[in-house]
Amino acid sequence: MTAKVRSVFRCTECGAEQPKWTGRCEACGEWNTLVEEMAQPKTARRKGRGPGPVAAGPEPVRLGDLAAQGLPRYRTGLAEFDYVLGGGIVPGSLVLVGGEPGIGKSTLLLQVAARLEAAGIATLYASGEESPEQVRLRADRLEEPADRVHVLAETVLERVIEHAARMGARALVVDSIQTAYTADLEGAPGNVGQVRECAARLMRFAKESGPSVLLVGHVTKGGGIAGPKTLEHIVDTVLYFEGEGSLDHRILRATKNRFGGVDEIGVFEMTGAGLVPVANPSAAFLAARHAGISGSAVTALMEGTRPVLVEIQALASRAGFGTPQRVSAGVDHRRLAVLLAVLERRASLPFGDLDVFVNVVGGVRLSEPSSDLAVVAALISSVRDRALPADALFLGEVGLGGEVRPVAGIDRRLAEAARHGFSRAFVGSRTGLRQAAPALELVRIEHLGELAHRLAA
Ligand code: TYD
Ligand code: MG
Repeated sequence: MTAKVRSVFRCTECGAEQPKWTGRCEACGEWNTLVEEMAQPKTARRKGRGPGPVAAGPEPVRLGDLAAQGLPRYRTGLAEFDYVLGGGIVPGSLVLVGGEPGIGKSTLLLQVAARLEAAGIATLYASGEESPEQVRLRADRLEEPADRVHVLAETVLERVIEHAARMGARALVVDSIQTAYTADLEGAPGNVGQVRECAARLMRFAKESGPSVLLVGHVTKGGGIAGPKTLEHIVDTVLYFEGEGSLDHRILRATKNRFGGVDEIGVFEMTGAGLVPVANPSAAFLAARHAGISGSAVTALMEGTRPVLVEIQALASRAGFGTPQRVSAGVDHRRLAVLLAVLERRASLPFGDLDVFVNVVGGVRLSEPSSDLAVVAALISSVRDRALPADALFLGEVGLGGEVRPVAGIDRRLAEAARHGFSRAFVGSRTGLRQAAPALELVRIEHLGELAHRLAA
C-alpha cells in the first residue's frame, strides 16, 4: 500500500502548520507567510523509555579512521568557473547559479555541460525555459562543441530526475529552478513552496545517486519572492553571476561554498561565442582607464584570496535646484554618505551643494572599507578637477574622525599593483608590512586632511 502524499502549509514566521492556505496565519496573525510543503510522515511513538534499535542508516565513524583524501572534482577546464568552485565541481554536490535574467546563466551552464560531456561525464541539460532547438541555436554560437549534450525540455521534476537516472547522468543542469515543479504540491511553478521542494528533492537525488546538480535561479530586480535566497541554506554552493548589462564583463562570485572558499570571484567576458574566462581581471578592469582625467582613483580589492585592481570614478558637479543628488554604482550609498560627511567635517571639503556620482568600473562592487581611501581620493580629485598621479594606488579605511586605517592583506595588494606598473601607494600611516621591501613606494597618510594637502601639492 503506498502512502498518500499530502501537502501542508507552514508559516515561515512561526512554523505553525495548517491544512489549507489562508492569507493570514491563524497562529501568529502574520499575513502572506504560509508556504506549501510536503507533510512529514508522523514517526510512530515508542512506548519504552530506553534506547530502541537504531533504524537502518549510517553508523558513527571515527574521524581518524577516514582516509585523508582530497575531494574528487570534475574539472570543466573553464578556468574561472573551476576556480570559483574551489577546483571544479564536486560529484554529488548541489550548486546554485543565481543571477538576473539575461546575464548569461544559461550560456555558462551550457558551456559547462559541453565541457563535462567532452570529458566523458554524461550530462543532462534540462531546460524548462527553452526548447531543444533554442538551446541548439545557442550551442551553435559557442566555442565548445556541445553536440553530445543531452537536452530535455521538461518542467516536471520527477521526469527530469527519472531521465537523469535512466541515462546515468553524472551531471544534471536544471534551467531554471523557477520553472521546475512537482505535482505533489498544488502551488504554481516558481512559488516558494515549489522551488524549495524541488531543490530539496534534487539535493536528495544528488546525495543518494551521486550526480552533481547545477541549478539556475533567477534573481529579480525587486528581490522576487522565490528567488535564490530561499534556497541558499539547502544547496552546497551558491554562485552569483553579475555584471552591468551594458558591459561585457561578468563576475561569478561564490557566496557560499561547502567545498571551497567564499567570496572568490571569476571574471568572464561575454563575447559573440559565449563566455570567455578573463585570465587577468586587473588588466581587464583597468583597460579603459584614461590616466590624466580627474575623479579617477585605483585601489586593490581582495576578492576571496585574489587581489584585483579596480578603478573608482567620481564626478562632483554643481547641483541644479533642490536636494543635491547622490548616485552610486558599486559603492554602498550609505558608505558614500559617510565619506562625504567625513570629507566635509574633517578635511573642510564641502560637497553640500554638489551633485555627486560615484561608479566602480567593470560592474565590480566594493564590499570592504579598504577602498574608502580611493573613493575619497577620487572625490577630492573631482571636486578640484585635478587628476591623481597615474601611478598611484589608494588603500585605506577611513574612520569618522578622518583617520586613515591600515587594511588587511596589504602585501598581496601591493604586489598585484606593482605587477601592473603602479609605483606609489597611499596607505594608512600605521600600515605594517610582512615583506621588508615593499613592492611600491609607500606614502603614509595619518588623516584625510593630510591626503587633501598632499594631493594639492
Ligand atoms: P543567457 O545565457 O540566455 O542569460 P540567462 O540565462 O542568464 O537569462 O544569455 C543572455 C545574453 O547573452 C543574451 O542577451 C545574448 C548574449 N549572448 C552573447 O552575447 N554571446 C553568446 O555567445 C551567447 C550564447 C549569448
Ligand atoms: Mg536562461
